[in-house]
Amino acid sequence: MGIVISGLGHSASLAVNIASVGRWRLLRAEEKQFPDGEEYVRLRGSLRGADLYIVNSLYPPNDETLACLIAADAARSLGARRVTLIAPYLAYMRQDKRFRAGEAVSSRTVAGLISDRFDRLITIDPHLHRYKSLSEIYSIPTRVLHADKAIADWIGRKVKLPVLVGPDSESRQWVSQVAGLCDAPFGVMRKKRFSSTKVKSSGLDAKLVRGRDVLVLDDIISSGHTMAGVIEQALKLGAATAAGVGVHGLFVPGARKLLKGAGASRVVTCNTVANPTARIDIAPLIARAIGEDSK
Ligand code: R5P
Repeated sequence: MGIVISGLGHSASLAVNIASVGRWRLLRAEEKQFPDGEEYVRLRGSLRGADLYIVNSLYPPNDETLACLIAADAARSLGARRVTLIAPYLAYMRQDKRFRAGEAVSSRTVAGLISDRFDRLITIDPHLHRYKSLSEIYSIPTRVLHADKAIADWIGRKVKLPVLVGPDSESRQWVSQVAGLCDAPFGVMRKKRFSSTKVKSSGLDAKLVRGRDVLVLDDIISSGHTMAGVIEQALKLGAATAAGVGVHGLFVPGARKLLKGAGASRVVTCNTVANPTARIDIAPLIARAIGEDSK
């Protein structure tokens, strides 16, 4: 089965890079929205017997999740033998519990939809908090890749004596890994969330951050409130600088301004979601996984 790569949405250029790293065939995909907001997807070319990898971060979540589901059907109709979704950013992972009666556990619903359409899923650092693994909600084989080495390489090249800080308990998994690879000290705070835009992290150790270049590391930067709060506290406690590093930079409107206002010296993310801060390239990581997969 020949490997074919196709990219949708903002991930189209990431797909081009992945295909070029692995020297695989790139299939052009057309995606647009009808005036009423419905999704249109067309895959251009033959896929008979192909091992197709559709690359698309699920962001914006509703449009791009639907585009993936539609694209999978188009791929089958063109004769693809196996269809894998590569969603570098996997949306719909945060509602992992019914917090109040009647709430939908949307992570399960979306996992069901994707499992029905795709043969496999590959993603990068999904938000695993209450779920220990994706297999708790996905019925297809899944593979989780980690951006830790790519992030640690970037830190090694750009920051002399970093100190890493994680804003909440679930960030320990990313922060401890990256800190280990950079041989840097780290601390993990406790976070209380009052609403989607009101959060408070506490427990930052002044001795850890005083006079140091602090990097606040989180998996997702969405509204920016989590990171901005920690950056402000680090600076108040005497950090020389405080920067934000995220795996997935969503940056909803207002997030960048908030981070700037908090005093962030810089904000950097991986290119799992295309945005101006996406300086850490994860195309080689994904290409390696596809290569291993096809052996
Ligand atoms: C959730 O706990 C995640 O790990 C992030 O901390 C969160 O998604 C960040 O969201 P925001 O930027 O809106 O504070």
